[in-house]
Amino acid sequence: MNDAPVILSVEGLSKNFGGIQAIDSVDLDIRKGEIVALIGPNGAGKTTFFNCLTGIYTPSSGDVYLSNPESGKKTRLNGKKPNKITEIGMARTFQNIRLFPTMSALENVMIGRHCRTNALILGAIFRGPATRREEEGIVDSSYQLLKKVGLHKQVNEQARNLSYGAQRRLEIGRALATEPFLLLLDEPAAGMNPKETEALVALIRQICEEGHSILLIEHDMKLVMSLSDRIVVMDYGKKIAQGTPEEVRSNPAVIKAYLGEDVDA
Ligand SMILES: Nc1ncnc2c1ncn2[C@@H]1O[C@H](COP(=O)(O)OP(=O)(O)O)[C@@H](O)[C@H]1O
Ligand SMILES: [Mg+2]
Repeated sequence: MNDAPVILSVEGLSKNFGGIQAIDSVDLDIRKGEIVALIGPNGAGKTTFFNCLTGIYTPSSGDVYLSNPESGKKTRLNGKKPNKITEIGMARTFQNIRLFPTMSALENVMIGRHCRTNALILGAIFRGPATRREEEGIVDSSYQLLKKVGLHKQVNEQARNLSYGAQRRLEIGRALATEPFLLLLDEPAAGMNPKETEALVALIRQICEEGHSILLIEHDMKLVMSLSDRIVVMDYGKKIAQGTPEEVRSNPAVIKAYLGEDVDA
């Protein structure tokens, strides 16, 4: 049994949009050091689940708690704003990439860093030596993050000029810049070729080994099966299965969710 501390605890989470029950009473715990995959057919509610966790949507019911693995401090996230949740220690990337397209790769990561520094607007106006030192620190640590995600040769390239795979890695770099203990990735391999996906798998493993826990949504089953400690399966807003890759692979409810329409047709 894994007895690492629980860092994310989701209890009975539901979200409806008018008549659509996008998420229906989902429970989920993530422990320190885990890589957990959230899978399910299109429209299952996976992105909505991320949006409820990260403060983009307010849950209709249920609770979300985030616990800092160092301090043990447990915070209820319901109703908190996305930037506050990032500050508490959970960062994410988006299914539809959200970078600042005309800013450089470095500047995109620096924006993430600013969440952990004191360089406020006034500091930027009066530019004392302390502010300058802090800014140099931000540039330096942002460059190190670009190196980690394999973009050190594209530091000054505008985000919009980067390949699709590079933009996805840049988003990961920006998320890491906020120093999260839990990282949420929404379809990180989407649009990547097999070589890029392989590099992504290595990067996610490295990020995990460096102490971050990871929850990822992904359709690439090879990636999911090779990377995940645990897999959670959603269908029509409900959690229909969870377990190790082996357990989930042979679960009849999962097979039906993925193949159901083909079988009926
Ligand atoms: N803002 C919204 N307004 C209305 N319906 C939404 C909204 N966001 C998602 N949905 C609906 O919720 C369901 C789940 O969508 P989503 O979370 O994007 O699924 P997935 O990421 O698993 O493909 C879908 O039926 C979708 O149309
Ligand atoms: Mg989605």
